[in-house]
Amino acid sequence: MTYQLNINGAAHKADVEGETPLLWVLRDTLGLTGTKYGCGAGACGACTVHIDGNVVRSCVMPVSAVGKGKVRTIEALSPDRKHALQQAWIAEQVPQCGYCQSGMLMAAAALLKSTPKPTDAQIDAAMTNLCRCGTYPRVRRAIKRAAG
Ligand code: FES
Repeated sequence: MTYQLNINGAAHKADVEGETPLLWVLRDTLGLTGTKYGCGAGACGACTVHIDGNVVRSCVMPVSAVGKGKVRTIEALSPDRKHALQQAWIAEQVPQCGYCQSGMLMAAAALLKSTPKPTDAQIDAAMTNLCRCGTYPRVRRAIKRAAG
């Protein structure tokens, strides 16, 4: 079946089965490989994208459920890579291996949109993404730096 999708502000078509996870449409059909595959079970957050501004784990989102939702991936967080979070990530040298970081950034961006000055508790509650390198303290510092 052909699905019409709004990805990063542009219309795209995907000829896939309805149960295909959005993650694979992004990566394999559209070549948007910034969104990562970690667990495939909705647990780690490596595949985090936004749909209509809300955090979604794209590995467990069937493409048939996206509908008219506006999907935003890490590639569109900031065209010039100068989003306050990206700058803070660099300043705090957050990544170690880096694999989970695009998902972290998308989760952090949604947090700052809804909560511009989050407390530690709000950061901890919102940032449920997993990082095997244990970058959590630097993630928290970077979010606070970006929040100003
Ligand atoms: Fe989607 Fe882990 S790959 S939550």
